[in-house]
Amino acid sequence: MRAKTKLIHAGIVGDETTGAVSTPIYQVSTYKQEAVGKFKGYEYSRTGNPTRHALEVLISELEGGVAGFAFASGMAATSSVMMLFGKGDHVILTDDVYGGTFRVISKVLNRFGIEATFVDTGDISNVEAAIKENSKAIFLETPTNPLLKVTDIEEIAKLGKEKGLLTIVDNTFMTPYFQQPIALGADIVVHSATKYLGGHSDVVAGLVVVNSDQLATDLHFVQNSVGAVLGPQDSWLLMRGIKTLGIRMEEHNVNAQRIAEFLKNHEAVSNVFYPGIATHPGHELMKKQTTGFGGMISFDVGSAEKADELLAKLRFFTLAESLGAVESLISVPARMTHASIPSERRAELGITDGLVRISVGIEDVEDLLDDLTQALA
Ligand SMILES: Cc1ncc(COP(=O)(O)O)c(C=O)c1O
Repeated sequence: MRAKTKLIHAGIVGDETTGAVSTPIYQVSTYKQEAVGKFKGYEYSRTGNPTRHALEVLISELEGGVAGFAFASGMAATSSVMMLFGKGDHVILTDDVYGGTFRVISKVLNRFGIEATFVDTGDISNVEAAIKENSKAIFLETPTNPLLKVTDIEEIAKLGKEKGLLTIVDNTFMTPYFQQPIALGADIVVHSATKYLGGHSDVVAGLVVVNSDQLATDLHFVQNSVGAVLGPQDSWLLMRGIKTLGIRMEEHNVNAQRIAEFLKNHEAVSNVFYPGIATHPGHELMKKQTTGFGGMISFDVGSAEKADELLAKLRFFTLAESLGAVESLISVPARMTHASIPSERRAELGITDGLVRISVGIEDVEDLLDDLTQALA
């Protein structure tokens, strides 16, 4: 099956009992048992729910893994994956991971004795240097949020295998439509499905795919124990969103490429971060490991005041947290998504006060260009 067909036909499609072509929403918490322990696959919806299960099978097939898991948010997914580790374990992470990932690792999971080192994973020697005796995993985000830095998944996963470490990839920005971390050697893929997979700014969800039976058993144990599961309605909404992922990603990609080229040539913009631009440091690597460059662009307008001016003038870019939806969104990472990162650290990473991030939607690109032209004038 080719990618776009898979989005429609993978997983458990419809309902065998009634012939419904859309998976029913099983709005149920518990299931009748014929005798103690004798039931039809489901006993309690935290442990398993048929609608959630259909989504979990779907994402597992899309990512080419062994099993999928649906969580109440991307952060619930990341946190649950981190709960595979324990006191005294060490994890290496990409230095400009999503702010919420940085926060849960450095302010919550540290309290449970999980150690972490943040490095620029774009250079494998930094990862090698960070490996300690108690290291258990390498957590990558590629491309990163908001600077779109790129890491070679295959190279890091190979190193991980040699050293006995799991490679975990946050695939939120690319989705399985553009990037397949498991095929590149990763062990676990994490998603904020709130973004492109859902695609319509109407659901908060997280998904995980693992590549082995052992990891599937271990993560199901965490999912059922901690209980941060996705409800059946939201599972259904995600499946509905995923059906159009291919056509949406193609449009995001084409629109973002046009807008990035426009911004690159604009005198009011000092820096454009988009991996689809040939001068972007990660451009060649992206061509090797992805089939598209995505819809996220960051650019610098010089100061917080200039950023505010731009936000006030734009008509089609909605000022909002989040990304990956049909409508174009705009944010100022230093004061929004990445506010939880201390200012000194933001400065080190290059997340300046004038940095603006746009999530390019699937509107007519000419309208988006007109809007940016008048707002930057
Ligand atoms: C790359 C990335 N990972 C994880 C998350 C967390 O996901 P959620 O907001 O669904 O909890 C986000 C949210 O913006 C994100 O951008």
